[in-house]
Amino acid sequence: MLKLNTTYIKSFVSDDEMANIWPRMEQAYDQIMHGTGKGSELLGWRDWPETYDKKEFARIKRAAQKIRSSSGVLITIGIGGSYLGARAVVELLGDYNATEALFVGKDLSETAYRRAMRKMGDRDWSINIISKSGTTLEPSLAFDVFREKLIERYGRAGAKQRIYATTDAETGILHDVAKREGYAMFTIPDDIGGRYSVLTAVGLLPLAAAGVDIDGLMSGAREAKKHCAPEAMTYAAIRNILYKKGFSVESLAYFEPSFGQMSKWWQQLLGESEGKNQRGILPDSMIFTTDLHSLGQFIQGGPRGQLFETFLHIGQMLNEKITLPGSADLGLDYLAGKNLASINQIAYQATIAAHGKDGVPAMSINIPKLGSREIGYFIYFMEMSAALSAYVMGVNPFDQPDVEAYKKEMQNLLQPGTGK
Ligand code: PA5
Repeated sequence: MLKLNTTYIKSFVSDDEMANIWPRMEQAYDQIMHGTGKGSELLGWRDWPETYDKKEFARIKRAAQKIRSSSGVLITIGIGGSYLGARAVVELLGDYNATEALFVGKDLSETAYRRAMRKMGDRDWSINIISKSGTTLEPSLAFDVFREKLIERYGRAGAKQRIYATTDAETGILHDVAKREGYAMFTIPDDIGGRYSVLTAVGLLPLAAAGVDIDGLMSGAREAKKHCAPEAMTYAAIRNILYKKGFSVESLAYFEPSFGQMSKWWQQLLGESEGKNQRGILPDSMIFTTDLHSLGQFIQGGPRGQLFETFLHIGQMLNEKITLPGSADLGLDYLAGKNLASINQIAYQATIAAHGKDGVPAMSINIPKLGSREIGYFIYFMEMSAALSAYVMGVNPFDQPDVEAYKKEMQNLLQPGTGK
């Protein structure tokens, strides 16, 4: 379902280098499959497409149905791993006629709050608050503000019926409040970390409310669990070989703007899994052809030896095509009768060739078409790739010890003396 094209990598990564790193890749795969590597207590995502709680899955669908019939908007509150995946998939597969997911609590911006309130307008709405710890400042503040608004609109009893809390099954402030108030509750499994959690209730509830086919997502992820290892190992091997040669920035290049949020999810997954102990590849992203008119010069003519590209290539986005008039007065007659999507495909072929031939290692992840199964497959493939790649880099893929630093500084400024 997903294929890695390495044509333009061959001049940067030799067969011998691949053969040399392969035993290490097999070892990393073995660590994941047998739970013998660092952070193995957070390997729940590995079997999740098969082992997920079917009863909770059915509850998610029922809750989504209730949200869709009662609310034009779902205020979806969360940050990092408790937000990026849902937003990415909504942007790719969300149904414009379903409940609109508006994401808040992912920053501390008053403008963003105001914009969400304005966008909501007079429509009926509900809240999905998503936080594993239940104590993260950004979502807690957003929940505080939007819950008050919900109570203003629907009264205390009415608001309770419109709040869905996705959090730890046993502990945490959010868990305790939700239990006490009687909000509908959904679980973030203990053994799945934030950035690996999009296929749990974290992502599935807002996605189902937004009209995404969550059965399709899970079925694609299940397929990936069976089949993606060879491609994931190859992708992770190439990244590590390039990294050892000094290539320290990877840019995910995509030709469909609706992959913008998916590239943010990917950035967190790879960046937070690898970037520790002074190691890691910086995950960057670019939207083409747009950025070819801004960063294209830098890529083609800037320094060599730092940047490599991973192209995301989608075989088919939509069924309906836009046929080009090909007006002669605009000098476009040679394109008459062609469709826009085919020109975008040619732009992809031309760009990977131009960059690849000119000293920028470039590989491509080919997804046959945009659909829920394909995206479920892609998500699992990337989770497996991130874990493999981090193990080969010698770091724990599942922790993020250094994100606490800014939180402590902030806590000390907000409540002097309390940040430890
Ligand atoms: O990947 C992670 O672990 C982080 O991005 C967290 O998901 C993020 O900080 C939000 O945490 P929480 O769900 O506890 O509010």
